[in-house]
Amino acid sequence: MFVASLFNLKGGVGKTASCVNFAYMAAKDGYRTLLWDLDPQAAAGFYYKVQSDEKATAKKIMDHSMELADAIHHTEYEGLDVIPSDLSARKLDLILGEQHAAKKQLKSLLKSVSKDYDFVFIDCPPGFSVLADNIFHASDVVFMPVIPTTLSVRTYEIVKAHFADKSELEKLMCFFSMVDIRKNMHKDVMAQLHKDKRFFEYYIPYLSDIEKMGVREAPVEAFAPSSYAATCYRALWNEIKEGVLE
Ligand SMILES: Nc1ncnc2c1ncn2[C@@H]1O[C@H](COP(=O)(O)OP(=O)(O)O)[C@@H](O)[C@H]1O
Ligand SMILES: [Mg+2]
Repeated sequence: MFVASLFNLKGGVGKTASCVNFAYMAAKDGYRTLLWDLDPQAAAGFYYKVQSDEKATAKKIMDHSMELADAIHHTEYEGLDVIPSDLSARKLDLILGEQHAAKKQLKSLLKSVSKDYDFVFIDCPPGFSVLADNIFHASDVVFMPVIPTTLSVRTYEIVKAHFADKSELEKLMCFFSMVDIRKNMHKDVMAQLHKDKRFFEYYIPYLSDIEKMGVREAPVEAFAPSSYAATCYRALWNEIKEGVLE
């Protein structure tokens, strides 16, 4: 089982959009795939038309009053399951902080489903936290979408320093998100950061078909398979598979 998470210190950079699309493409490639949404905004589950049936599921999983397997929902897509989030995910930091071996809880919870899935994608809330430390520890790779602006370069340096501190820098891989290639700033920042070998070549442009995911409640390849947006996600996903799976 390979665990990949979508993280950034910032919100609104395309973590959820890419998590939802990567999970869809992984399942379509034939990998048994689970998407675990750990953001209280619960958007990933929304895109897959899946909601928790019970109240406070996120909290119950983390405080061991509910089995992880019981929180799993099938989606309408073959080979793709989702653990939706809910507002109780706001409290995960407090719950985890009180536990013994606080950073290792998520990894140990995932062991219970390790035979059932080839890929797990985790959608993270923004920010550093005990939850984020858990996610980094449990992940084989952490993908960070970066909008190529000057401020994002600063955020990228902060995240890199944080990962280096935790001795997990080798897990951090990045790609550009919401790119407007007509903007000189975007081009300049991409050229600068591409020198750092942590960035994939393919990137995700700013495209209205990606925004439409909210209206269609589906990943782009499902409702617009021949769109430019679907082509971009597919190209990046293929590059990611080559980069991380061998
Ligand atoms: N490449 C893109 N082009 C256009 N809109 C995008 C793109 N990626 C994400 N969005 C939109 O931007 C908003 C924030 O994206 P989201 O993936 O939820 O970010 P995050 O999870 O990092 O907070 C959403 O409304 C989403 O539909
Ligand atoms: Mg999100």
